[in-house]
Amino acid sequence: MRLWGGRFEGSTDGRTADFTRSIEVDRALALDDLAGSIAHVHGLGRAGLLSTAEADALVAGLTGLRAEVEAGTLAWDPALEDVHLNLEAALAARIGPLAGRLHTGRSRNDQVATDLRLWTRRTIDALDAATARMERALVDLAGREGDAVLPGTTHVQPAQPVLLAHHLLAYVEMLERDRGRLADCRRRANVSPLGSGALAGAGYALDRGATARELGFDGVTANSLDAVSDRDFVAELLFAVALAMVHLSRLAEEITWWSNPRFGFVRASDAFTTGSSMMPNKKNPDPAELVRGRAARVIGSLAGFLALLKGLPLAYQRDLQEDKPPLFEACATLEASLDVMAGMVATLAVDRDAMRRAAGDGFTTATAVADALVRHGLPFRVAHHVVGRLVAAAERAGSGLGELPDATIAAMLAEAGDATGANLAADPAVPPALRAAASLEAAVASCDVVGGTAPGRVAAALAAARERLGA
Ligand code: ARG
Repeated sequence: MRLWGGRFEGSTDGRTADFTRSIEVDRALALDDLAGSIAHVHGLGRAGLLSTAEADALVAGLTGLRAEVEAGTLAWDPALEDVHLNLEAALAARIGPLAGRLHTGRSRNDQVATDLRLWTRRTIDALDAATARMERALVDLAGREGDAVLPGTTHVQPAQPVLLAHHLLAYVEMLERDRGRLADCRRRANVSPLGSGALAGAGYALDRGATARELGFDGVTANSLDAVSDRDFVAELLFAVALAMVHLSRLAEEITWWSNPRFGFVRASDAFTTGSSMMPNKKNPDPAELVRGRAARVIGSLAGFLALLKGLPLAYQRDLQEDKPPLFEACATLEASLDVMAGMVATLAVDRDAMRRAAGDGFTTATAVADALVRHGLPFRVAHHVVGRLVAAAERAGSGLGELPDATIAAMLAEAGDATGANLAADPAVPPALRAAASLEAAVASCDVVGGTAPGRVAAALAAARERLGA
């Protein structure tokens, strides 16, 4: 029995039924659909379209279905196309012909838009919590091992030393922005389309605001044509999810490299690695690699979804049914990725010595040394040149910047002194000051600005993150 079959003489071809069916996917909306239906019944009661007894019986039937869905005992009938028709038919099977009054003043078009907004809202809340857990894992590791020094890189080349906590907190910043985007998306998603009908608005004097309040919406949509076909909130959530996946993917990339023995900065635990079927020596950071790989799928979901929307005239078009697979898959992927990455980060073993050795490679304190010369009066551009010459000399001598003899330092300064009129070459305090500035600790400590890697600044940032997260 097709609930919409009155005008049809012929039966539905099996191919049409198979092609249009969505129950396998949209059954995930069952609890949202039932919540929407219960609120709608209350609204029909308020509008005098149902007696109190009828409204009570419908709500009791819907509440019973909710228990069946929660228990996983409700049987879904693929012949009934989608979650809406399945639930309406199940209601009729439980309470009889009264179920036929449920769909008064409602279309599946405003119904599915309502369901999807409810789903989006609760999914955003779950993603927000998972993101906060991931942030906590990063903050905990920063608290445990954060004073380790590692080489910060640009162009994948050694650049300047930074504290591990500073590096980890960079990801906390990204994830906090992700949470902000989720909250922003939630705000626009959290309005009720119910009462928009199929496209033109319900044909009854429904109090849309009251129904919206019952469902926890902040308000109602203002235009019925827009309301039944608006999926901006899906696009926004997909973008927020895709960007969060990009952030996780960057971290995954770093963990993957860092656990290569040539780096040796970290070791992923047995619990978050897998082996090779052929090479007995292997221990691979597969979860991180798969996070990186799945980011690609989520980006595809976003791009595909925007393509889905771009050609749609007003109002509801069946194409919109294709909103759910990318949305559901992307959100599930992000949640699972956050969970596995949180576990991986929480169990990461940090090799501080390996980080420290690497931090000193590549003359990473050269900028700090140039800054020290500026503090002694040289223009930065001259100091840059002098330290560049010192780096070249140290490289030739196979030593570090901090081990250069006074004579070499004086010689390079003398060249520069000729050019500028300053005469640091003759100042005996300069070589020891310069060597002191070349230590990792001094270099890290010198970046003492808000947002910099100096230990005090990082400690303050860590404290702020902990406070924010209640961690
Ligand atoms: N399964 C549909 C969807 O997900 C529900 C709305 C169908 N409306 C309709 N008139 N066929 O979009």
